[in-house]
Amino acid sequence: MCGIVGILGLKPVAPDLVDALRRLEYRGYDSAGIATVENGHLDRQRAEGKLRNLEARLHDAPLSGRTGIGHTRWATHGRPNETNAHPHMSKRVSVVHNGIIENFRELRTELQAKGHNFQSDTDTEAVVHLITEEMDKGLSPVDAVGAVLRKLRGAFALGIIFAGEDDLMIAARQGSPLALGHGLGEMYLGSDAIALAGLTDRITYLEEGDWAVMHRDSLQIYDIDAKLVDRPVTKMTDAARLVDKGNHRHFMAKEIHEQPEMISHTLANYLDMATQTVRLPDIGMDLSKLTRVTISACGTAYYAGLVAKYWIERYARLPVEIDIASELRYRNAPLPKDGLAVFVSQSGETADTLATLRYCKAQGQKIASVVNVRTSTIARESDVVLPTLAGPEIGVASTKAFTAQLAALAALALALGRARGAITQAEEQCLVRALMEVPRHISKMLQDESNYERMAHDLSKAKDVLYLGRGVNFPLALEGALKLKEISYIHAEGYAAGELKHGPIALIDENVPVVVVAPQDDLYEKTISNVQEVAARGGRIYLMSDAPAESTGCLLDEYIAMPKVHPFIQPLIYAIPVQLIAYHTAVFMGTDVDQPRNLAKSVTVE
Ligand code: F6R
Repeated sequence: MCGIVGILGLKPVAPDLVDALRRLEYRGYDSAGIATVENGHLDRQRAEGKLRNLEARLHDAPLSGRTGIGHTRWATHGRPNETNAHPHMSKRVSVVHNGIIENFRELRTELQAKGHNFQSDTDTEAVVHLITEEMDKGLSPVDAVGAVLRKLRGAFALGIIFAGEDDLMIAARQGSPLALGHGLGEMYLGSDAIALAGLTDRITYLEEGDWAVMHRDSLQIYDIDAKLVDRPVTKMTDAARLVDKGNHRHFMAKEIHEQPEMISHTLANYLDMATQTVRLPDIGMDLSKLTRVTISACGTAYYAGLVAKYWIERYARLPVEIDIASELRYRNAPLPKDGLAVFVSQSGETADTLATLRYCKAQGQKIASVVNVRTSTIARESDVVLPTLAGPEIGVASTKAFTAQLAALAALALALGRARGAITQAEEQCLVRALMEVPRHISKMLQDESNYERMAHDLSKAKDVLYLGRGVNFPLALEGALKLKEISYIHAEGYAAGELKHGPIALIDENVPVVVVAPQDDLYEKTISNVQEVAARGGRIYLMSDAPAESTGCLLDEYIAMPKVHPFIQPLIYAIPVQLIAYHTAVFMGTDVDQPRNLAKSVTVE
């Protein structure tokens, strides 16, 4: 959730720390700070709000020092103000932290009883006091951290520097990701490799429970049992370095426009264009014997999984259970023998999804994950990874990762269908051809967005918006509502169109826009009856459909003409207007589109 960085440099590190934090701002942006070792002393600057506030501070009061750590925060404990901003420090030690120290209350009470004074409301400050206490007892910095790590419970990544130690930094990972970077006579740490993209492309990923003692020209990594271990140095992919907005006003706009290309890349990984068949990595089990698929994820990734449920049931005739990860992980659900569990995650680090993966693994399920960050924990703990080739997604609201997830899941559904004999080869080829058409349709749809700018004007006045869809497009209604609320802050809800009359219809009046995802498929007539029910109660209808507007028999406030496509690929195609409506509404309202309030890109706390 928060982003942490650290540099053992050859020149003053503050500018590079700020630069690295900029690449991590997507993880949190309530406050930011850096600390350095200057002439043996620790010094820091912190500021509430966006990174630019910290930059202004540093402009007025620069920090020198060749050893430093930095932090951009998504508040978990304590309000997002300067006092709670990281780094936290004593005279002897300074700490940046991502994650949650679950037993911090006990630790804090014990420390307070011993006379420690806390400055902030954070869980992190307990770590500072604990290390200081051990050092005051005479332990070396390394031994002090080793002793303290054994006392901490929870999921965290830490970066630690010490007064009087210009060539020492300690990194620790337990449940939250951490990458170490190797430079020429320099050493770095970051919450992910993207943070270090401007500094090095040689990365070592810490494993669960690892902690590292870093010097400019050496690195020792210890595992959870304090054994010295070797972790490989890998080369960062080029994609990780491509982190700028190009000609777009926001990352979200750039990422929406990248979809044709990113979907093509993802599909190319799974489709054999020559034979028009699906080519999936070996899942390590006989797919024809599979008894059930269990899908789990959070937020937008969950909605991608929900589309996959419809696809797998329809094209592979295989039962699918799906649940949001924060529920499934605690539900103690019985899972069948010969079951496949599929996890969907852009970041590959979402705490609830990861915990659910571990639960399903312990229950004997084969684990497949659809992830965007291949080096992530979820990817590493899966039996098979179905990567989405969306490239780094920086906008907090997920767009290209969603459609890339759909592309990979579509391939999975067809592979299951073929393995189980539920579709013929001719059907598979027809469905693969339909998938190959997706990038072309989306490119065309992205050529003109003027409709959406007009709609945004109207939607921005609404207090509530409803989204309706049916069948495989019902998840698009959920995704549309989520996208609108997270970036425009307008309350929105998605419903299965058939559910409307079971309650939500009471909300309809002339002030409630109802956005309807209504492709002309076998459920079209049913959806249109629901639209008529809305019209009869004065609701304002925004319809996206490939059927002519007149065929609804109602007066439409807005009509988004959609291309006629194979029903299989509709969710990929209808994702585009759903994203554009939210994007343009947020732009019109002047919200912070890429970094909406209270959110963070990577949710590594539960
Ligand atoms: C919404 C959004 C979130 C994420 C969710 C899961 O736009 O981005 O709902 O989809 O937090 O994150 P990942 O996919 O990283 O597991």
